[in-house]
Amino acid sequence: MTRTVYLNGAWFPETEARVSVFDRGFLFADAIYEVTAVIGGKLIDYYGHAARLQRSLSELGIDCPLSEASLLDVHRDIVRRNQLDEGLIYLQISRGVADRDFAYPANALPTLVLFTQAKPVLNNPRSETGLSIATLPDWRWERRDIKTVQLLYPSMAKMEAMRRGADDAWLVQDGLVTEGSAATAHIVKADGTLVTRGLSNALLHGITRASIIDLARNAGMVVEERAFSVAEAQQAAEAFITSATNFATSVVQIDDFIIGDGKPGPIAGSLRELYTETCLATAI
Ligand code: PDD
Repeated sequence: MTRTVYLNGAWFPETEARVSVFDRGFLFADAIYEVTAVIGGKLIDYYGHAARLQRSLSELGIDCPLSEASLLDVHRDIVRRNQLDEGLIYLQISRGVADRDFAYPANALPTLVLFTQAKPVLNNPRSETGLSIATLPDWRWERRDIKTVQLLYPSMAKMEAMRRGADDAWLVQDGLVTEGSAATAHIVKADGTLVTRGLSNALLHGITRASIIDLARNAGMVVEERAFSVAEAQQAAEAFITSATNFATSVVQIDDFIIGDGKPGPIAGSLRELYTETCLATAI
């Protein structure tokens, strides 16, 4: 099926949407993005993603081409036009088109693109088996809190993890896990405490992370927001990742260490259930 994509105020069949070779997203990775899950044709955790989008734009001094209300309308419209039941919406805003120059152009109009990807989010087979993770150095830049399209290193890390026989990578700086290649990393201690890295410029401020922490605290769990080492993760009772596209998915192996009994753990499982229940109830 040919998708309908949104580009700068108009709708196109996916094969006909065109962006200039001078777009700063293409030349400088001068662009930010968001990924929002869709289930049953509804948007999951939408307001969190919309708020982080505004934050990323303001950190880079890019104007949002649409009002908040219009942005929501476009999200709803793209779901409807593509009859998307389950999957995700990818949104990207670049600073726009200008002749190549390291200095930001004065009056470029931002380029806004949205497209959909249909895929299983709830019934992702990986949620049954759990993931194996390879740890790799975090060689990204130091503003990982901005959700930019500079995804070459995460992509290289994922490829290296797969070459080592793992599903994905966790990135490590000074012996401490920053996050996954495209997800937040969490562990659960033997006493049931959830440990997740505190927010800083070192990692993306995950929207799913925020919801999971709230749910865990409301369920009476102790949550420690602090960095943890690879060794601590390898000895943890459970480990898992969160993201818009994974919800909460267990990690059952980190490098050569099997986590727990090598099966998805009960606490990650119950957080996944809680998150699914809550986000379906609040989907818009
Ligand atoms: N990635 N950390 C990184 C580096 C990410 O790229 C992502 C999401 C997350 C989780 O954030 P959230 O819970 O808001 O989805 C953490 C998206 C899904 C992607 O790049 O496809």
